[in-house]
Amino acid sequence: MSGYKNFAVVGAGLIGKFIIDELLKEKAAGKVDTVVVLTRSAGGKDALAEKGAKPIVVDYSSSTSLQSALHGIDVVISTIDGRAIGVQEPLSDAAKAVGVKLFVPSEFAGDTINRAEEVPAYAPKNELRKHLEQIGLPWAAFFTGPFSDWILHQAFLGFDIDNGKVEVSGTGDGVVSWTSRIDIARYVVYATTVLPPSKLHNRVFKIQGERTSLNKVLAQYQVRTGKKVDITYLPLEEVEAKAKAGDVKSVIQLLFQLYGEYGTDEEMNVDWPDFNPQTGVDAILSYKA
Ligand SMILES: NC(=O)c1ccc[n+]([C@@H]2O[C@H](COP(=O)([O-])OP(=O)(O)OC[C@H]3O[C@@H](n4cnc5c(N)ncnc54)[C@H](OP(=O)(O)O)[C@@H]3O)[C@@H](O)[C@H]2O)c1
Repeated sequence: MSGYKNFAVVGAGLIGKFIIDELLKEKAAGKVDTVVVLTRSAGGKDALAEKGAKPIVVDYSSSTSLQSALHGIDVVISTIDGRAIGVQEPLSDAAKAVGVKLFVPSEFAGDTINRAEEVPAYAPKNELRKHLEQIGLPWAAFFTGPFSDWILHQAFLGFDIDNGKVEVSGTGDGVVSWTSRIDIARYVVYATTVLPPSKLHNRVFKIQGERTSLNKVLAQYQVRTGKKVDITYLPLEEVEAKAKAGDVKSVIQLLFQLYGEYGTDEEMNVDWPDFNPQTGVDAILSYKA
């Protein structure tokens, strides 16, 4: 067992709310003592408090505010918005100052170490890991691939499966590992509560719900639902040019064709043989907006 019983989750958004729910299940089972949620505003947090979490309003620019919120915490799990990951450096400094034992950075995507130079959003995540090592605060990072329950329902990314229209960059045969948010949350909570520090500290956890391609998933979806999906294949060079110019939609579409792999099949889910995650198509069908 990790021995860690006091957790702070930073942000309760797209992935954070699932991790909080899993921690609260462990709290109800008596295996976790505290689930603090760091937020910029108390508004809308009543439901979390009713479920047993403790929302604390913080000012990310104040080390006093952060240290006070993290007092007595063993593990910080950051799920901060990808556009605000710069706050993790002062946050980790505050965590170190009050004796936090493990920092889980806001990752939850692809290989931010080996792909840091190719994918612009990955570089700051890699830098943060170096900062954590410099200050001597152990980290554990979770590579998960795209959120399989969520991503194909996002029309703004060209993935409008609910209206039967999906854009695919390149051939659609690129290999991608992806995982649903509930399975990511289950794995993060399993690792941070069950594994001993020797298996947890300064480790990358490569997890996947399924290893597949967009073409295969779209074919399975059509068989399972009986609904036709119109697939538009975009030439890879065009998507790459737009991605280089900073178009977020193109950057994310490229993840499926070029950067979907972050290890071999044998390297995935190795710390939890009984993980038993959802397949991609099951995750898509389980989505609730
Ligand atoms: N693999 C995928 O498909 C995928 C998809 C999306 C995201 N991600 C990754 O997952 C991680 C978490 O992303 P997310 O989408 O779960 O986060 P999110 O829902 O966009 O945001 C999480 C929380 O961050 C807090 N926050 C603090 N400072 C902020 C600021 N300046 N601007 C905006 N929000 C701020 C907000 O909480 P308060 O308002 O309560 O302070 C917000 O609820 C990121 O690293 C992201 O890159 C992966």
